[in-house]
Parts: sequence; C-alpha cells; structure tokens
Amino acid sequence: MRRPEELRSHRWYGGDGLRSFSHRARSRQLGLNPEEHLGKPVIAILNTWSGINPCHQHFRERAEQVARGVWQAGGYPVEFPVSTLSETFQKPTPMLYRNLLAMETEEVLRSYPVDGAVLMGGCDKSTPALLMGAASADLPVVFVPAGPMLRGNWRGRKLGSGTDMWRYWADKRAGLIGECEWSELESGLARSPGHCMTMGTASTMTSAVEALGLSLPGAASIPAVDSAHHRMAAASGMRAVGLVWEDLRISRILDERAYADAITTVLALGGSTNAVIHLIAMAGRSGIPLGLNDFDELARRVPVLANIEPGGEFLMEDFYYAGGLRALLARLRDLLHLDRVTVTGRTLGEDLAGATVHDDEVIRPLDRPLATEGGVAVLRGNLAPDGAVIKYLAADPKLLRHTGPAVVFHGYADLQRRINDPDLDVTADSVLVLAGAGPKGGPGMPEYGMLPIPDRLLRQGVRDLVRVSDARMSGTSYGACVLHVAPEAHVGGPLALVRDGDLVTLDVPGRSLRLEVSDAELAARRAAWTAPEPAFQRGYGALYYDHITQADRGCDFEFLARAGSNPEPNAG
Ligand code: FES
Ligand code: MG
Repeated sequence: MRRPEELRSHRWYGGDGLRSFSHRARSRQLGLNPEEHLGKPVIAILNTWSGINPCHQHFRERAEQVARGVWQAGGYPVEFPVSTLSETFQKPTPMLYRNLLAMETEEVLRSYPVDGAVLMGGCDKSTPALLMGAASADLPVVFVPAGPMLRGNWRGRKLGSGTDMWRYWADKRAGLIGECEWSELESGLARSPGHCMTMGTASTMTSAVEALGLSLPGAASIPAVDSAHHRMAAASGMRAVGLVWEDLRISRILDERAYADAITTVLALGGSTNAVIHLIAMAGRSGIPLGLNDFDELARRVPVLANIEPGGEFLMEDFYYAGGLRALLARLRDLLHLDRVTVTGRTLGEDLAGATVHDDEVIRPLDRPLATEGGVAVLRGNLAPDGAVIKYLAADPKLLRHTGPAVVFHGYADLQRRINDPDLDVTADSVLVLAGAGPKGGPGMPEYGMLPIPDRLLRQGVRDLVRVSDARMSGTSYGACVLHVAPEAHVGGPLALVRDGDLVTLDVPGRSLRLEVSDAELAARRAAWTAPEPAFQRGYGALYYDHITQADRGCDFEFLARAGSNPEPNAG
C-alpha cells in the first residue's frame, strides 16, 4: 500500500515550495477546500463524449457517476474531455485519428497531476486509442466501456447496426423493398445511446479489453442504458482509487498471457477483423511482439461460441441476458490463463467464479459451436508478402477456394464511379480488387473492404464475391473479403501491380493468396510502377503519412511504438 506522500500528484500539491503553493491556491480557485482533495489519489476521467458521437451520448452523465465512485472511495476525480472518434461522422475514417487520441491520452496523463485514470470509450477506435496511450503512460487505469445500444426494431423484427443496414441496402438495390420501408428502417436502426450492438469493432474491442483484465468483470456486455451500466460506472471510479493505493499499474496486468486471452476472446466472439490491427498496436505499446501468426494459430483452436450478428443471428442485448462475456469466458476456461491478475486485484479465474450461461443458443456450448473456426485466417502469398486477413464466418463457403479474373479498382472514387457501369466485365466468378485504400493510400485505411456487389449481379441473386483490398472492413460487414493486404499498394505492394483479367487465387484452407502472374512479368510491371503523390502536404496528415506503419504492424506511429521512456515532468 502506498502512502499519500508517494502519490505522483503529491509532487504538484505537497511541499513548501512556490509551485506547490500556486497549485493549492489554484485548487481553491476551482472551489475546493484543501481537506476535500489533498492527499487523495487524483483520478483522471478521460471522457470521449461529444455532441456528434451518438455512441457516447450518455457519457456526460456516466462521467458524473464515475466521479461519484471516486469521491466515495476517497479519491479526487478530475474530468478531462479528450478527442471523440465517431465512427459514423468522422471522415475519411476515425482510423486516421486513432493515434492522435492515443497521443493525447498519453500526454494528458503524463503532464497533469494524475495518479490513475478511468478511460471512457467504446465507439470503435476510441477503445484501442485510449488503451494505447494509457499503456505508454503506465498508470493504474480502469476502462469504462460505453456499452451496446438496444436492439434495433423494424416492424417487430430486430435490426442490427451496420449488418442489417447492408443487408436491406442490398435488398433495396435488388428491388425487394421500397422507399417507404427504407425510411422506416432509418428510424428503427439506432434507437438508444450506446455503441453498435452487433459484434462490430466496438463490441469486439470492449470485450477484448475486459478479457485483458482492464474493465470490471461483466462491464463490456451491459447495455448502455441499463441501470447496471450506471452502477458499473460508479464501481469503476471506486476501483480506480484502490488501484492507485495498490500501485496496480497497467504494465502489471498486460502481459503475453493477457493478449493471448484477448485474442481467444475475440475469436470465440466471431469478432471484428479490426481487432487484429488494434491488438497488435496495443501490445506494441506494452513491448509485447504480437503478430499475425499469433491470431492464425489461436484461430485454428478456438471455436466461435457467440451467436451474434454479423456471423450469427443475435445481438449484444441478447448476449447480456444470456450471461454476457463472463459466461462466455467461463465456457472457454480451459483455453484461458486463469491465474493472471486483473483490475479487480483478483485473478481472472476468481473474476469468472459463478458465471453461467442462461441461453445456449446465444452462447453456444463447446460441443455445439457456431463454427469450429472461421474467426480469422491469415493469408500469405505473392499478393500479400506481409500477410492479409479474412474472417470467413459469414462468407459463401464455395468462395473459400476460388480462382477468378481480377476486376481492379484504383481507389474508392474509381470504385464508386465504375462498380455499376453496365460495361464492367464482371461475373459471379470475378475477384474484385481495390488497391490504394491502405494506411497511407486510403488515407487512414478506411472500411472500404466489403466492396459492393454490382447491382446487375445482385439482381441475379449473387450475394457474395471474392474481394481483395488493402483496406479494412467494418466489423458489422461480412462476405469473402480479404483485407489488410500488406504491404499496401500505395507503397508499392504487389496489389499495385494487379491488372484486369489477371487470375487471383484465394485458398483459405491453404492460407494463401496468389496472383497467377509470372515473377518476370511482375518484375517488369514493378519497374514501370511510379509512386503516387503523398496524400497530405502539411499538418497532422503529414505527420500521419510520414510515420504510420503497415497493417501487419498495427498502424501505430513508429515513434510511438518504439521502445524507450520519457522523463516525468518536473512539477515541484
Ligand atoms: Fe459507434 Fe458503431 S458507430 S460503435
Ligand atoms: Mg464499425
């Protein structure tokens, strides 16, 4: 147990010097009596609320509940508004800004008198961003997940974020539903605060963070508007104070076993492919060399148990009622490292005590999984020397071993312009290729990876095609989409060399992705290739462009992922 004089914040508030005098005088200016806060752990509440982030609408109120918990436990809560990453509204993609929030998180925690933190995130990239920054700052932290929104509803049918939108959009383009139904869907799709309630990137990452041991047990599954969510927020605030006294810093929780368990969790959930990039980036901040092969190895052993859209049929609200993540993890006990410590100060095994599944359809038993594998596969070959990924859970099985002629698009504008061109030479056997949508080329590696199926094919009943890109894909998307091809086309990866009509072979069981063109021909094409112009000339974009790493390395900035430490600021 640490003593008050050992707190980091004591360097600001303690002592007889002029600086400390000034900090105390300014605390009085904030309206605080000395006895209310001096000698107490300062808990930063990093709040990603904003007026344009519907997934975090409730965070203003939740931050108050976190603060209530901090006060109750004898701490001093200080709320910091930090950058909001709204998956829906921020363009070209919040992925461009994940590292900016990670930098802000790290520097806020470093530069202020902070002893520990509660991190409030949930909408897709906000979760890895906060954790990456916190791992680099290495203070005690608790993550408060935003929680999923309620089930969508349309004419008594449930609607899942993203997934059902894509499905009905395909139906609309195929002429199966009309304008009237479509406008009703607009009102029914997202009807409460909270993040996407399919197993998209948000649910995937908040669950992964709980599995890492950084949220209170069960936190990630609670719907955003459930009163249990209010109580979880307060309890997280209380716990943050205890963590500071115990000096249970993030580096004592995040080790190789924690990351292996997080990957296992993502796979058993049938989670988003984005988790591959984010977990590699997060582990990099903890000095843990996680790579694509770690995912592929575990994917061969971990069955998919969560029957949640887009891979399955239920939604996060159903998952919560079925017992939530604790129940799923209890089923996976034999695949997890139960003796490692979590944010509770107990072991993962202790955190899972008593957890039971209440609905075997939503959380399948091990002997009746949704799929024995399929969460993710890592592909390599002459088209992806540094790897590519595919989540084939919801792909047409006959496409998983397929050779077809490429139809190539260079960038998203080209794709939009030509995908429904009546003269486009495309059939159900074609392989749609999108080049130039990677980390640098996108820029920001946008979620263009589920290339749309041409209307003409939709009307013929085609609902899946092999698609290959250096882009990412929304966690709520599905199909035979090969993603994250590295190196990306923009830096001269082989994807840049594919031409219309070239044969491309996808072999998921064989874990390969090949361009059936001779080495000599590829060398000739490479010699003729010219590098495109940088996407940015100045500002944050230029910083991003100059330092972003490729997908297989997590798309962190190399100067953030690098080993080494920075000095603590002199506060006295
Ligand atoms: Fe925020 Fe999906 S838009 S989680
Ligand atoms: Mg998403």
